[in-house]
Parts: sequence; C-alpha cells; structure tokens
Amino acid sequence: MRFSTLLSSLALVATSLAATDEQDTTSLQASLQTTTSIKIASGCSFKDTFTATAQSDLDKIAGCEAVQGDIVITGDLGSASIANVKAIYGDLQIFNATNLEFFAADAITTITGSLKLHGLTVLSTLSFGSLNNVGAINWVTLPNLVETGLTQVTDCNSIYISDTMLSDLNGINPSNVEIFNINNNFNLASISSNIQTVSNALSIGFNGDDTIVEFEDLVWANNLTFYSVASISMPNLVAINKSAGFFESSVQELNFPLVDLIGSDLTIENNNYLSYIDFSNVTAIGGGLVIVNNTDLTSIDNVDKIKTVQGAVVLKGDFDNCTMSSLKTVRGAFDLETSGYADCDPFKKLSKNGGIQGEFKCKAKSKPSSSTSKSSSTDSESSTKTKDSTSTSSSDDDSNSSSATNTVSSISSTSKGGAASLKNTSIFGTMAAILLSLL
Ligand SMILES: *[C@@H]1O[C@H](CO)[C@@H](O)[C@H](O)[C@H]1NC(C)=O
Ligand SMILES: *[C@@H]1O[C@H](CO)[C@@H](O)[C@H](O)[C@H]1NC(C)=O
Ligand SMILES: *[C@@H]1O[C@H](CO)[C@@H](O)[C@H](O)[C@H]1NC(C)=O
Ligand SMILES: *[C@@H]1O[C@H](CO)[C@@H](O)[C@H](O)[C@H]1NC(C)=O
Ligand SMILES: *[C@@H]1O[C@H](CO)[C@@H](O)[C@H](O)[C@H]1NC(C)=O
Ligand SMILES: *[C@@H]1O[C@H](CO)[C@@H](O)[C@H](O)[C@H]1NC(C)=O
Ligand SMILES: *[C@@H]1O[C@H](CO)[C@@H](O)[C@H](O)[C@H]1NC(C)=O
Ligand SMILES: *[C@@H]1O[C@H](CO)[C@@H](O)[C@H](O)[C@H]1NC(C)=O
Repeated sequence: MRFSTLLSSLALVATSLAATDEQDTTSLQASLQTTTSIKIASGCSFKDTFTATAQSDLDKIAGCEAVQGDIVITGDLGSASIANVKAIYGDLQIFNATNLEFFAADAITTITGSLKLHGLTVLSTLSFGSLNNVGAINWVTLPNLVETGLTQVTDCNSIYISDTMLSDLNGINPSNVEIFNINNNFNLASISSNIQTVSNALSIGFNGDDTIVEFEDLVWANNLTFYSVASISMPNLVAINKSAGFFESSVQELNFPLVDLIGSDLTIENNNYLSYIDFSNVTAIGGGLVIVNNTDLTSIDNVDKIKTVQGAVVLKGDFDNCTMSSLKTVRGAFDLETSGYADCDPFKKLSKNGGIQGEFKCKAKSKPSSSTSKSSSTDSESSTKTKDSTSTSSSDDDSNSSSATNTVSSISSTSKGGAASLKNTSIFGTMAAILLSLL
C-alpha cells in the first residue's frame, strides 16, 4: 500500500519523534488548569525516582493518597496496578516492561507531569478510569493497545501518540493544548476532537488508512501539519498563527474560508486528489506560499485576497485561473509554472515595479483565444508582450530578474521557519526545512 511513502518518511518521522519526546514536558509553557491539591503524607515524597520492578513495589505506595516525585515502572511484570493513589505530582512512566499486558490506576485523577508509556510491546489493557488532569500524554510503541483506557481527561497540555493500535482517542478531551501530535497509528481511521486552541503544533500523519480529521471547535492553531489524511474539517478556524502544511494526502478539498491570517508558510504539496482549495479570506502570509504537484488541482482562484507574502511564492502544476488579484508584495522569489492558462503580465508588472523582490519566473499558456483554441498560444514565458519603454525594460528577461540580489537580504525579515522563503525552493528542501523547524 503506502509502504514506500512510509519508508521515505520514516527517517523524518523518527527525528521529529525523538525531538518531541524530549520536549514533551520540559518545554510545556502552561500549567494544568485544575489540579487537585492533596497533602503529601510522610513517606510519599520521593526526591529520586521511585522505581518499581514488581507489584510488591507498587503496593508500597498504595497507602499514599498523593505522591510527590516521579514513578517509573520497568522490568518483568506481567500485570501491574497502582491502588488508592489519587494524585501524582510528577511523572508516571512505564518503559521496557515487555511482558506487561495489563496496567490499571483507576483512582488517579491527576498526574502533573507526563504519563509516559514507551515500548510496551504486549500491553493490551490500560485503565485510568478517573484521570482528569495530566501534563502530557506521551505514548510511543504500544503495538497491542487498541483502547486508550481513558474516560475523562479534560485537562492536558501535550498529547503525543505514536505507533500504537488505538482505534480511537476516546477519553481525551482537553480544550486547549500546546502539542497534539498523532502519528503512525495504523488502526486510527478517524480523529475527532473538541480542542479549541493549539499553542504550539497540531501534527497528524501516517495513521489509519488515510485518516478523517475533524476539529469542529478549533479556533486557532500555531502550526498545522498533515500527511496521509483523507479529509480535514475545521470549519471554525480563523487563524493559523504559524505555518500550515498539507502533504501527500488524499484530501479532495482544503476548506479554510474563515482563516484571515497565516503567520508563516502555507505549503500544499503532492496531494493527488486535491481539486479544491479555499483560503479566500487570507490577506497576508508571514512565510512562503507553496502550492506544487497537486495533480488534480485545476484551479487556484481562492487565494485572491492575499496582499503580502513575506517569503517566496511557488505555484506549479496544471491549473488555470491563478490571478492573485490583490497581490502587492512578495519578499521572496515568485515562480508560477503551469501547463494551464494564466496571465503573467500583472505579475511581471509587479516584479518590475519592485513588488516582487526576489527572482521572477512565470510560465503559462496565455488565455485561449475565442476564435480557435490554437495550441500555439502556449508557453508565454511571462515576457515579451508589453515592451514598455521605461527604464526598467532592460530586465525584460523572464527568469533572471536583476533584483534577485535583493532576495536574500529582504528574506531575513521572515520567520525562521519560513521554508519557502529559502532561495533553494526544491521540494525536498522545503519539506526538510519545515520538518526541521518543527523540531
Ligand atoms: C530492559 O529490561 C531488561 C530485563 O527485563 C534489561 O536486561 C535491560 O537492561 C533493560 N533495558 C533498559 C534500557 O532499561
Ligand atoms: C511551531 O510553533 C512553535 C511555537 O510557536 C515555533 O517555535 C515553531 O517554529 C513553529 N514551527 C513552524 C514550522 O512554524
Ligand atoms: C493566534 O491568533 C488568534 C487570532 O488572531 C489570537 O487570538 C491568538 O492569541 C493567537 N495565538 C498566539 C499563540 O499567538
Ligand atoms: C474575513 O476576515 C475578516 C477579518 O479580516 C472578518 O471580519 C470576516 O468576517 C471574514 N470573512 C469571512 C467570510 O469569514
Ligand atoms: C509529484 O507527484 C507525482 C505523482 O504522485 C510523484 O510521483 C512525484 O514524485 C511528485 N514530485 C515531487 C517533486 O514530489
Ligand atoms: C476558471 O474561471 C472561469 C471563470 O470564472 C470558470 O468558468 C472556469 O470554470 C474556471 N476554471 C476552472 C478550471 O475552475
Ligand atoms: C540567466 O542568467 C544566467 C547567468 O547570469 C545566464 O547564463 C542565463 O542564460 C540567463 N537565463 C535567462 C533565461 O536569461
Ligand atoms: C537545492 O536543493 C537540492 C535538493 O535538496 C540540492 O540537491 C541542490 O544542490 C540545492 N541547490 C542549491 C543551489 O543549493
């Protein structure tokens, strides 16, 4: 099936995985909204990590209503449980317990740190029936886990779930998060969430068989990144404060009609079924605008309010109707190449009067003449039509704009994650830069 895609992305996913792993709790900005405050009894506070390798170790803390410190469970246990404990002011980590099939901690309502489950290869049942507040959910490589075992998590800053067999994300319902990253869960065909804001990054990739993504309540998010999704529904999204990237997905539409701000790059790449995009209310893009290699996208017309692009504009494909009629300023390069129809003249004019500050290239068929659909009217390489006899006419050549030297300096004002503003706008460069800047 999508094996080659998976392979090629494996390295990238692995890198971003490791990095997210590191940042999962230490970099969290917010504290939980509603934590319990239970007095720590003597003997229930651990300066060093409390490590349990057998149930008898865990039984030692069963007399604690609350535990201060980190708890690590590891080793040869087949099943394990924590009884009575209501709050852990610290992490609860279970790793390298490769025989662990069952874990329960049904009294716990609060874990202020991270609930970290890593490499539990036979874990099939998890039960956290009372958990409300948890700093981070960080679950990696749980290949036998089908259900979350969570019922009522409403307060959680970071959710990172990778390489599990979960079929849904039931019981995880926070309103505001910093990180929501769900990747490589092959059983997960649909992701629905009531999350309203994402202050760092929302990333979804390589789950199920092209995941259906529904965030009906999402109002703003800093970064959005999607790979291998079937559809995206975010009808209330008004701001993408940083970047948005849509890659290698089977989405047919990208509908973001309320979004008026994109703080960094907007990248739409290699979506073979994409036939409709709507970013019709976007007026400014704080990074680059890249729409390339979306084979079914025959029209780029719903980007017409965009006035300024702080990075480069790269539009390549087989589309018509790309006018970008409000465009006034492009700080990076401009490269429009389509086998369809587009009028290069307005863009060329913009390049000449300095509105496009980087290199300029425009390659498209000129409008089909009404008389005959002469195929010889092809490839008006942007230039040579209107030889205006102004002083700038010396740089009438298409792709070699004399203002190209401005490019680099003017780009420095863009976001550092501005992948598309890089001068080398190769696809891989763009992707790598975006992924790198996610780290
Ligand atoms: C994992 O556990 C096994 C025994 O169960 C032990 O030999 C090994 O060192 C542990 N690995 C790590 C990384 O803790
Ligand atoms: C995502 O957001 C974070 C936090 O604002 C930022 O540091 C990072 O650069 C962003 N990543 C991208 C690709 O914009
Ligand atoms: C993102 O943009 C929205 C709408 O402009 C704003 O309310 C929100 O505070 C912004 N978030 C961040 C983290 O800047
Ligand atoms: C477009 O954005 C403006 C703010 O810039 C907002 O007031 C308006 O409601 C938006 N229009 C639509 C159709 O969403
Ligand atoms: C463009 O899409 C085609 C078809 O999916 C794919 O084979 C090719 O590798 C893509 N090109 C780039 C540069 O990603
Ligand atoms: C381009 O725009 C014209 C006029 O608005 C419309 O008739 C035509 O269907 C559009 N082409 C595509 C491919 O959407
Ligand atoms: C662009 O400039 C380079 C060197 O400056 C030159 O070799 C090349 O032929 C030029 N290309 C066009 C299309 O003018
Ligand atoms: C542009 O990027 C491609 C792919 O990453 C690389 O092979 C090429 O050398 C780069 N070119 C320049 C001029 O940096």
